[in-house]
Amino acid sequence: MVSRRTFVTGAGLSGLIAAAGSRSASEPTREGSAPDGTPEQIHLTFGEDPASSVCVSWASTAQAVNPRVELKADDGARTIHAVQRTYTDGLNGQTVFTYHATISGLEADAAHSYLVTADNDRNRLQPFAAAFRTAPRGRARFRWTSYGDLSTPNSSWVLSSPQSAFAVKAVERFQPLFHLLNGDLCYANLNPSAQPAVWADFGNNVQASAANRPWMPCPGNHEIEFGNGEQGLDAYLTRYSLPANGTAFPGRWYQFQVGSALFISLNADDVIYQDSGAFLAGPAPLIPAPSTGNAPIVPGTSLYIRGYSGGAQTRWLEQTLIDAAANKEIDWIIVQMHQDALSSSKYGNGSDKGIREAWLPLFDRYGVDLVLCGHDHDYERSWPVRGCNHNTGRDALTGATVDTLQPKPVITANPPDGQFDTSHGTIHFILGGGGTSAPLDAYGENPISRTPQAKVITKPNRPVPGAVPGTFAKPGADAVEDAIWSARRDTETGYGIAVFDLDPGEPHGKTSITISYYHALGADKAATGDYQLFETLVIAKHRRRA
Ligand SMILES: [Fe+2]
Ligand SMILES: [Fe+2]
Repeated sequence: MVSRRTFVTGAGLSGLIAAAGSRSASEPTREGSAPDGTPEQIHLTFGEDPASSVCVSWASTAQAVNPRVELKADDGARTIHAVQRTYTDGLNGQTVFTYHATISGLEADAAHSYLVTADNDRNRLQPFAAAFRTAPRGRARFRWTSYGDLSTPNSSWVLSSPQSAFAVKAVERFQPLFHLLNGDLCYANLNPSAQPAVWADFGNNVQASAANRPWMPCPGNHEIEFGNGEQGLDAYLTRYSLPANGTAFPGRWYQFQVGSALFISLNADDVIYQDSGAFLAGPAPLIPAPSTGNAPIVPGTSLYIRGYSGGAQTRWLEQTLIDAAANKEIDWIIVQMHQDALSSSKYGNGSDKGIREAWLPLFDRYGVDLVLCGHDHDYERSWPVRGCNHNTGRDALTGATVDTLQPKPVITANPPDGQFDTSHGTIHFILGGGGTSAPLDAYGENPISRTPQAKVITKPNRPVPGAVPGTFAKPGADAVEDAIWSARRDTETGYGIAVFDLDPGEPHGKTSITISYYHALGADKAATGDYQLFETLVIAKHRRRA
């Protein structure tokens, strides 16, 4: 067992002190039933080609015997045997069994019914059944939704909140083809004695939607866990089956195309300056279960993975963008990542110069349209930005000039025809209002001009000794800048869901994406399923091929 210890992570949430969770390693995830091969935490992801392949993934409390998916077909059922992937949690020693069945050769733009079972499935006489839809081929209308920072509905876990169940229902209300989940999935790393149990609660909550449509994730800082692999991502990587990226770092980043849109999912932990992964504040050490053979983790330890791919991710990103530029079937490029290049949350993390240095120049050069993030638990939208101003920031402590690479808005008023043209600049969205217990919808303001101001992280905020002897803390953002790029911020609630409707348009005409953001009014105080429209905007541009 991991001892109950004070455990703190994330500079932006440095006030959070968490007692470790209470489930023991040997307890089954489902109270009252012996561990077996019953499928749970069932979720879909797109395969390499979303028009013809989908992967069904799940977990069970013990090793499954003959785990499989049965796909209903006109000529009977097709059985797809699942591949097992396991890992043993490096803190509490629990072994997690997951299963992945990739179904390929499916008809495009069609509904497909399936069931999930195993020989030791408690429900094998009436196994779990659901249906999904494959993506359309070519230029077609479709909808997707997005948010990050979901957590679980089990509020005994740190940062979890009943709002996360309403957030899953919100996806079902809008019936998208797929959902983008922008990192900080469940905050298991804030509950170090019970990481697998937190993941199970997360998986069982999202199943209500993710068994019906692919949920495409990216890793956030809270997926970085002590004891679980070089980047701390073993729990995430074991549970998700994602399109290949052809590098030595599978699962951490990928791309897929739906209709005329290319979706690029990135792991910004590789380029950000912020140190926000698993962190032990102290004063006591964290003692892993003896069965793990892992040494105690000493106070002040922080899993900081900036630069882990040695540039492989950025090289892959550029090649992917070069290929997209040459592909006239792609009109839109949408990037998903967890951390923020443009965020002006007052108490949250702020903007990270690492993303501005590594990736914004590529987004400019190859015309990325939208960047969808999380990390700060609020809603903020930028003007279309391109290029940057130099030496406009100030050191947060000394006031000395700092080059924050301040993004340059190409317009600062709504366009007369109501349509933003993202071929002139990239719009960044902070969609961090999934369902955590910590909304961050207060925003920075320049005390003199009263205009938006952003905190910017321009160097690593490695742990420093804290006020109490033997404890450690991570400094917050080191710089500020005027957020001249900030177009809209939701000050009423930190929670919401973004809905994107792509219209491919007509030959020789324009294509558009209508973006509607629905927010959960009142959710800052009490969980609610009442998501109301906050704003709608349209982005439009000429099709690349008539
Ligand atoms: Fe978060
Ligand atoms: Fe985060």
